[in-house]
Amino acid sequence: MSAISLRTESLCVGYRDRSVLENLTIGLPAGQSTAILGPNGCGKSTLLSALARLLAPSHGRVFLGDADIHKTKTRLLSRQLAILPQFPIAPEGILVGELVKRGRTPWRGLFSPWSATDTEICQKALIAVGMEGFAERPLSELSGGQRQRAWLALVLAQDTPLLLLDEPTSFLDLPHQIEVLRLLQNRNKNAGTTVVSVLHDLNLAGRFNDHIVLLGPDGLVTKGPPETVITPSNLKKAFDLDARVISDPVTNRPMVVPL
Ligand SMILES: Nc1ncnc2c1ncn2[C@@H]1O[C@H](COP(=O)(O)OP(=O)(O)O)[C@@H](O)[C@H]1O
Ligand SMILES: [Mg+2]
Repeated sequence: MSAISLRTESLCVGYRDRSVLENLTIGLPAGQSTAILGPNGCGKSTLLSALARLLAPSHGRVFLGDADIHKTKTRLLSRQLAILPQFPIAPEGILVGELVKRGRTPWRGLFSPWSATDTEICQKALIAVGMEGFAERPLSELSGGQRQRAWLALVLAQDTPLLLLDEPTSFLDLPHQIEVLRLLQNRNKNAGTTVVSVLHDLNLAGRFNDHIVLLGPDGLVTKGPPETVITPSNLKKAFDLDARVISDPVTNRPMVVPL
């Protein structure tokens, strides 16, 4: 599986008469992990939806590799890109195992039988998120954190070279947040998967990602490696936050200390 990049070119996107992002040109580098950061309501989920072709831009384009995603066939797109929305919706009564199996849909023909490979990939996805004993449990009976990991297993089972994840750690306690971020980091480093995550924890974002896209109330503040993006002046612009940034004594990555 070769690494794949996403980029936007002069992207304008929003809802009916409300424009959310204007003239946004960013690249999400192939084979790297990118965090999208910014305050509530600045357009992170909107951006992710546009990147996954769930929202059409009013202007500008999104490229997956060299191809305009609006000219890419749906089946090909779903074999290359998986998205975990911020608020995914499941059919009532669905079991965790059934949910994860849905990740295999893009890889199966209309009449092709379920294969041993499909089973193996789904099992591996459940193991990866620490949910191997949960296949027979209804999704609706799980805790928020368990549910979130079940959804994560679904996108892992889709087995794409590109993952877009909207707040994949939002319901998780700190050890589980780190577990999920490590899991994504391992996918990125071992399989070359391009990982793009919307995150809120600035320190974890800086620690687990190669590249940061920082949005503010008026669009892009800056983008680049954590050390150049997570600075007091950029945090002020994006979040109106007064903070000092020191070097994390364990990882040497930027660590934000709000004032
Ligand atoms: N479906 C929608 N219809 C209309 N406006 C929306 C919709 N979804 C989000 N918005 C608005 O778009 C802006 C950006 O939202 P969103 O991308 O969800 O922000 P974030 O993910 O950064 O918190 C907000 O002002 C929000 O109210
Ligand atoms: Mg959001």
